[in-house]
Amino acid sequence: MKILITGGLGYIGSHTVIECINSKHTVVIVDNLYNSSIKVLEKLNKFLNKDLKFYKTDMQDIDAFEKVFKENNIDAVIHFAGYKAVGESVEKPLKYYDNNIGITINLLKLMERYNVKKIIFSSSATVYKESKILPLTENMPLGVTNPYGRTKLIIEEILQDIAYVDKNFKAVILRYFNPIGAHPCGLFGEENNGIPNNLMPYIVKVAKGELEYLRVFGNDYNTKDGTGVRDYIHVVDLAKAHIKAIKAFEFSKNINIYNIGTGTGYSVLEIIHNFEKATGIKIPYKIVERRSGDIGENYSNSDKAKKELNFSTKYGILDMCHDAWNFEKGK
Ligand code: WQD
Repeated sequence: MKILITGGLGYIGSHTVIECINSKHTVVIVDNLYNSSIKVLEKLNKFLNKDLKFYKTDMQDIDAFEKVFKENNIDAVIHFAGYKAVGESVEKPLKYYDNNIGITINLLKLMERYNVKKIIFSSSATVYKESKILPLTENMPLGVTNPYGRTKLIIEEILQDIAYVDKNFKAVILRYFNPIGAHPCGLFGEENNGIPNNLMPYIVKVAKGELEYLRVFGNDYNTKDGTGVRDYIHVVDLAKAHIKAIKAFEFSKNINIYNIGTGTGYSVLEIIHNFEKATGIKIPYKIVERRSGDIGENYSNSDKAKKELNFSTKYGILDMCHDAWNFEKGK
C-alpha cells in the first residue's frame, strides 16, 4: 500500500517508516519539522537505501497540504502529527486545540476529497480517566485532565462520527501507553531539543552528564514503592503494531480501538534501577513533590490487540533502557 505518514520524521513516526518499508509498503512523509529534523530523513534514506518521498508542509495550510494528495495516490494514512507536551498544553491550550484538531480536520477533508478511506490514529492512554481498577481495557471510562489529552479524545470522537455516516471509512485508533527506547541500530530515537518532559529522555540526559540529577515526582502514591507506575513499551514494538493495524483494514469494522502496551507496569524507581542495570551508569535522583496532573498508576490490558491484530511485544525493559542510552550516547 501507499501510506501517507504525517509526522513521519518524529520519534514514533520515523520508527514506523522503517517498519512500513520493511513490510514492503510505499511511504509518503509529511512533516513540518517543528519537533524533528531533516537529518532524520537523511538517516532514514541511508539506513533503508531509499529516496523517501518527503513534503515539508504545515498541515494547517490546506492548499499546500493538498499537493501531497494531488501528487500521490494514497491508500491509507497513519496520523502522528501533533504537539505532544502535556505541560505545555496546560499553559497554551489554544495552541494545542488549533494545531492538533486543525491539522486533523484538514487531513480528513483531503481524505474525503481524494477518496482515501483508511486511517490509523496515534491516540494515547492519557484519554482514560484515572482508574483504581487496573489493567485498563478499551471499554474503561474516558476522561482527560489536560488539553493535550483532550485533543486526542476529540479526534477519536471525530473519527467515530465520520465512520458512523460513511460505511466505507475505516479508522484504527491505537492508544499508546508509554513509548520509550530507540531503534537497536542506534541511529533513530527520541530527539530532544531543550529540557525533556518525559522520564526516559530526562534519564538519558542525566546519564550523559547534561543534567545533574533526576527529579522523582512524588513517592507518596499508592503504588509498589510510592513512585509513579507506567506501562512502558519499546518504540520498535509500538511501530510494529502499526503494521499489524494496516492488516486490520482487511477485516476490521469501521472503528477499531486498541490499547498498545506491554501489560506490565514499572515504577520510576524500577526504571532507574533497570537503566543502571542495563547501562552500568548510576542515575542520581531526588524525590520532589508530585507533578500536577500526574496520576499514580496505569498499565494496559492489550489482549484485544493481541487477539485481533496478532500484536505482541519482543523487547523487555532492559532492552528499552539499553537502546535509549545507545541512541543518546551516539548523538
Ligand atoms: C512517566 C512517569 C512521572 C519525568 C505522558 C503523556 C503520554 C505520552 C507520554 C506523548 C510519571 C515520572 C517523569 C521526570 C519523573 N505523551 N517522571 N520525573 O506523564 O506517563 O505520559 O507522556 O506521547 O500521552 O500523558 O509520561 O514520562 O512524563 O512520566 O518522576 O523528570 O515518570 O511522574 O510517573 P506520562 P512521563
